[in-house]
Amino acid sequence: AFTNRVFSGIKPSGDLHLGNYLGAIRRFVPLQQQYECIYCVVDMHAITVWQDPADLRRRTYEIAAAYIAAGVDPKNHIIFNQSQVAEHAELAWVFNCVARMGWMARMTQFKDKAGKNSENVSLGLFAYPSLMAADILLYKATHVPVGEDQKQHLELARDIAAKFNHDFAPSIAANGYGEEFFPQPEPVITGPATRVMSLRDGTKKMSKSESGSDMATIYLMDDADTITRKIKKAKTDADALPSEAKGLENRAEAANLVGIYAALSDRSVEAVLAEFGGQGFGTFKPALAELAVSVLGPQAAEMRRLVADPGEIEAILRQGADRARELAARTMTEVHDIVGF
Ligand code: ADP
Ligand code: NA
Repeated sequence: AFTNRVFSGIKPSGDLHLGNYLGAIRRFVPLQQQYECIYCVVDMHAITVWQDPADLRRRTYEIAAAYIAAGVDPKNHIIFNQSQVAEHAELAWVFNCVARMGWMARMTQFKDKAGKNSENVSLGLFAYPSLMAADILLYKATHVPVGEDQKQHLELARDIAAKFNHDFAPSIAANGYGEEFFPQPEPVITGPATRVMSLRDGTKKMSKSESGSDMATIYLMDDADTITRKIKKAKTDADALPSEAKGLENRAEAANLVGIYAALSDRSVEAVLAEFGGQGFGTFKPALAELAVSVLGPQAAEMRRLVADPGEIEAILRQGADRARELAARTMTEVHDIVGF
């Protein structure tokens, strides 16, 4: 039997935004009651595309600060950055030799990110899902909170675990490690899926890499005035809000703002529409701005406090890496036995 353990991570490849918060970070918090949680800053994933070293380090600290500010408890759970536990790279190599080229070639995120330029992206970008499988399985994590966009990668991690268990079955048994060496990690869904869309185009995901106007993305470090200005300028139609959710069909921008309101206030879209149905954006946007500032403001203040005194973050990341390494080293000792190293 495996310990109920959660692994998840965010890559420090851009500044944290509202999508990262509502889709990932905030969801990490309640899982601490049911699982042993390992929350990683996946800096090795970030460098699959070029990162300025100073920005990479600053963002690594900011993500750790965001985890803590949101309510992740680094005493009872683990916060660390991936590059500090070398076993991630070692297990990823073993998995590169278990996974098949065809499996990687079918990853839609690789195809999206590489585009027509697939001859000229890093080899790391192609092998990314193998490293992600290593992140999870190094800790024999049983549960992974994943967004829609990561589901295919988690499937691949399950395939790698199954193939490793199958290919090495005799050696696993001979070494006394039982029948199933790696677990089949499962997705954990906490509440309704939150997909935050751009404030400029309700059909595109809010993203740190959105080109064009920055007004499309609310960053976690934005101050109150900036958040308010972005929400007031968000693209909408001229109609009043409907009183029922089906009235939001074909109104992507309106649906997005209502969805953000619902997520920030922990209410259903129906409940939000019961309150605001019939009202225009002249009323709704200021209410949303006020709510966003009240939720994100204290979060940003705590993040700023933490990054201003990096000593505290550095100590948390160091202790987290020490504890993660202990678990990781145990798995790698076993993997060495199994593989014949
Ligand atoms: P990005 O997608 O901005 O490049 P990551 O890939 O590092 O950021 O995503 C980190 C986490 O944030 C993932 O779990 C992802 O699902 C979540 N996430 C990113 N953007 C959004 C969004 N617009 N809405 C909801 N969740 C999001
Ligand atoms: Na992404």
